[in-house]
Amino acid sequence: MGKSLASYILCIYLIINYLLTVAKANINWNGNNWAMGCDFYRNDLCNARIPSEQCGGHCSRTPGCTHFAWNRYNGGTCWMKRGSVTKNNAFKTSDPTMVCGVIIESNGGGHNGGGQAGTTTRYWDCCKPSCSWPGKVSGSNTQVRTCSWGGYNVLYNPNAVSGCDGGHAFACNNQMPWAVNDQLAYGFAAATIPGMNEQSRCCACYKLDFTSGPVTGKSMIVQITNSGSDVHANQFDLQIPGGGVGMFNGCSRQWGAGPNGWGQRYGGVSSREECYALPQAIRDGCFFRFDWFKGADNPNMVYSKVKCPQELINVSGCKRNDE
Ligand SMILES: *[C@@H]1O[C@H](CO)[C@@H](O)[C@H](O)[C@H]1NC(C)=O
Repeated sequence: MGKSLASYILCIYLIINYLLTVAKANINWNGNNWAMGCDFYRNDLCNARIPSEQCGGHCSRTPGCTHFAWNRYNGGTCWMKRGSVTKNNAFKTSDPTMVCGVIIESNGGGHNGGGQAGTTTRYWDCCKPSCSWPGKVSGSNTQVRTCSWGGYNVLYNPNAVSGCDGGHAFACNNQMPWAVNDQLAYGFAAATIPGMNEQSRCCACYKLDFTSGPVTGKSMIVQITNSGSDVHANQFDLQIPGGGVGMFNGCSRQWGAGPNGWGQRYGGVSSREECYALPQAIRDGCFFRFDWFKGADNPNMVYSKVKCPQELINVSGCKRNDE
């Protein structure tokens, strides 16, 4: 009797211990908005039989879908889910092939509004932006404006070959950042957002709340107009004239800039004075970096999805249907 009670208690103890271990096991987000071996409870919106790598993009294009989970059910099913959620609501599963993720994290009450931590860099390569090609915005026949040589005249042929591939389609001068007030600026960026493909992020807008350097506390709302193989997850490459041409230099052809553009190939000019090397048409965007942006050097930030301000749509000419 005494012995069986002891083993009964031991058994209960082991079960409780096991449950606590499972509950405590960490989901490995790796700084992303999705992870393997995890799931969310309930709140199903709809589902689709698609491969796991398409699940996040599918959710982001589905109105009302805020988070998702994928499992091997029926050959592979993406479960789109609705309602407010944070990554903390996910639980670990024993099936490592499962995938779960969030598209829109709800306001966790923190001052950062539950956004995602990210990094910034800067560039201005003068090339036609990637979101200027047809078919880059899911569900709508729209794309980012691209301009001819002077950077003023909008090309109405979205198939025009990029100036960086021998063609005559370049970045439009006005797709540079500007200050709205001392705390807020508008602009454009290339970005990589985990769980989203190009079609689901092109022309979407994000608010970047800077968390390091002299711009800490300031915010920028940017529209995504470009992509880059060198733009990593959660990185926003801000389009700032004189910020460095980076991988491709269209500025030599468009403006006669040097083989590495203006200043350093990565990083660009290093003082406000050097902005005078840029053509007047884009110089204000270069000054912006040393005025409103206070010369910040790739500050960190927390980003969250916002509805695009009409001012940005007016400049890029691109508006998503699913906003
Ligand atoms: C956007 O452009 C339209 C058409 O030119 C104009 O009427 C509107 O005032 C502009 N809006 C903003 C916020 O710039």
